[in-house]
Amino acid sequence: MSVVKNALPEADLKVVGEALQGALVDLVDLSLVAKQVHWNVVGPRFRSVHLQLDEVVTSARTHSDVVAERASALGVTPDGRASTVASTTAITGVPEGWIKDADAVRILVDALGVVINRMRERIQATDEPDPITQDLLIGLTGDLEKHHWMFQAESA
Ligand SMILES: [Fe+2]
Repeated sequence: MSVVKNALPEADLKVVGEALQGALVDLVDLSLVAKQVHWNVVGPRFRSVHLQLDEVVTSARTHSDVVAERASALGVTPDGRASTVASTTAITGVPEGWIKDADAVRILVDALGVVINRMRERIQATDEPDPITQDLLIGLTGDLEKHHWMFQAESA
């Protein structure tokens, strides 16, 4: 039973709810991965990579809140619990300990690539069921692709 009512038919709500929940998990994990690398990066490019990583954290946290609250607005309870994030994320874990700057950049290129692919699938899936959710996903994916470009430029 949902205490929040919405205008979407049940079948559409299921698709949209899954897209938003998946997006939430990816964004929460992306913020955790970027912080972990932010704290552990070492090497000659420490400062630029360290600062760049916090820009990803800010983006991921901001967008995770928007995504979670869109779910709530549709009557779907967002689940951002650590156990849920850990069991459903598609991002490969970050190795323990110090991370060389070049490896840090590679980790972010890979993580952003995985998340962007999944976001693009969600953009397709929400096209008919809910263009408002799709619009949120399009906007945040544009941001992620900007970060992806910058980290790829770092590794050229
Ligand atoms: Fe910091």
